[in-house]
Amino acid sequence: MITALDHIAIAVPDFEKAIKRFRQDFGLSLEGTEDVEAAKTSTAFFPLPATNIELVHPLRGEGPIAKYLEKRPGGLHHLCFRSDNIEADVARLREKGYQFLTDEPSPGAHGSQVIFIHPRSCDGVLIEINQPADAH
Ligand code: CO
Repeated sequence: MITALDHIAIAVPDFEKAIKRFRQDFGLSLEGTEDVEAAKTSTAFFPLPATNIELVHPLRGEGPIAKYLEKRPGGLHHLCFRSDNIEADVARLREKGYQFLTDEPSPGAHGSQVIFIHPRSCDGVLIEINQPADAH
């Protein structure tokens, strides 16, 4: 079951500069940064009531965010729905014809399990489904 809008992710070409903007200019507090090896992505999370802003940046200059930034100067990258049972949600959506970027969920930030629905299945929007580490 989908339970919340977990975060909105913005792809940024200059990680430190973007973190500074959200901290100093917008006054949000940085929860922390984390390199997600499985996604070749550096992440920074700014919790806001009911959701988070996630900055995503290429880890060591490679991976999916690097490819995204080759074509654009940065931008709104994906929406993330929180799930309390990712396997069940993926199975249900596959049954309805949704295509996913990978066959199985993979590790995300904060020890979560994540999978992405292909944008062609959602009117051009990349949607992540995320089961937090503490969900059962
Ligand atoms: Co995300």
